[in-house]
Amino acid sequence: MQNSTSTSSLWRPWTPITKQVNSLRIVETRGTRVRDADGNWYLDGISGVLNASCGHGHPRLIEAATRQLQQLVHYDPMVSSHDPAETLTARLAEILPGELNETCLHNSGSEATEAALRIALQYWRNIGEDRNRVITFTAGYHGSTYLAQQLSGLPFTVSEWARPFPVDHVDMPMSAREVRTEEGSDALIALFAKAIETGPPAAAVMVEPLLGLGGCVVLPAGFLARLRQLCDQHGTLLILDEVFCGFGRTGRMFGFEHDGITPDIVTMSKGISGGYIPLAATTVTSAIKASFEHEPVTQGLRYGHTTGGHAVAAAVANAVLDVMADEKLVENAATQGTALLEGLGELASCPLITDVRGLGLVVAIETDSPDSAAAIAAGAAQSGVMTRHERGVVRIAPPLTLTAEDTAEMLQKIGTAVDRAAAAASR
Ligand SMILES: Cc1ncc(COP(=O)(O)O)c(C=O)c1O
Repeated sequence: MQNSTSTSSLWRPWTPITKQVNSLRIVETRGTRVRDADGNWYLDGISGVLNASCGHGHPRLIEAATRQLQQLVHYDPMVSSHDPAETLTARLAEILPGELNETCLHNSGSEATEAALRIALQYWRNIGEDRNRVITFTAGYHGSTYLAQQLSGLPFTVSEWARPFPVDHVDMPMSAREVRTEEGSDALIALFAKAIETGPPAAAVMVEPLLGLGGCVVLPAGFLARLRQLCDQHGTLLILDEVFCGFGRTGRMFGFEHDGITPDIVTMSKGISGGYIPLAATTVTSAIKASFEHEPVTQGLRYGHTTGGHAVAAAVANAVLDVMADEKLVENAATQGTALLEGLGELASCPLITDVRGLGLVVAIETDSPDSAAAIAAGAAQSGVMTRHERGVVRIAPPLTLTAEDTAEMLQKIGTAVDRAAAAASR
């Protein structure tokens, strides 16, 4: 029986903490746009769930899924293997740098985090060293399963139960605007150095190339290269969470490419299958995988899911890579991202706005308060642009298929929403 105060039996994730709940029911998605049940179309400023990188209803992705469904839906990956997963993992080994050659497949970003952590912690046991301490950003977000939750210090994700391993969180030393500077980079690296050097040897540092949920914080140029160096000095593994940034979002295939580094472990999801079907991946170096010959019980991976690396999902991911190459989506993300950032940057003189930042097709408008961000997001939706807002920051991450016309329309409509929010606030 339905609760008398509710008109829906669907318990929506993360609500009401994020206060994103509205009554819109989305009934159709097409290209860079979505339609609600009342027939209103919106420019999709959030790519579905920040994952529809190739846009909605792409005929090649639908065709890839349909063809795969007709040929082979899925098969037990422990008993045998199938072409879509073999092809995808081989292609990931090609596009990832260095010795990042060994990939396991899952369904969600949180599962990829879970795998990355288990592999990293087991690696140290495999090679006979006692390391289990992990270092992350307080404002980092790596997923919602029990292990993944431990990595975040964000108040709405952190679990209050016992930690299964020690985690040290690094706070942002200054505002997101200031941290992008050279001084910001120095301050940030000093904090990571302190975290690594204080306490028992660190097993791993895990970071996003851009802190998505934690305020859309763009890290200083060169910071990841310095972090790589620091990890090397202490023999600590560097895990890059590319769940949100991977597959072109930041104007490079992977966010860490901006700094030209090679991580030890990379986690991926969202854009990997364009949001058409759940898929995630964790890729590790050949040396890390080789250490599992010494894993004491199975000499292999003690982790997996029934539908991890589902054949249809892997077939779609292979088609995503083709579409990204053929339609030059990484390049388009860089071009349209620059246009969006420059255009939104003109709003920075508005008294409600404290910062405008971005990298590729992820742009954030930081405001003076959660109410201002909510007012701008609501105004944008009213004028026909979907955005997300989290604690004072409006996040815009449209499909990488965004056209120049879409960008111009988005700028005009968000500009109007900002003007209206500012006018209402001054009344
Ligand atoms: C950077 C990052 N890591 C991990 C996750 C968790 O992914 P999922 O929601 O698919 O479990 C997310 C989800 O938003 C994310 O943004």
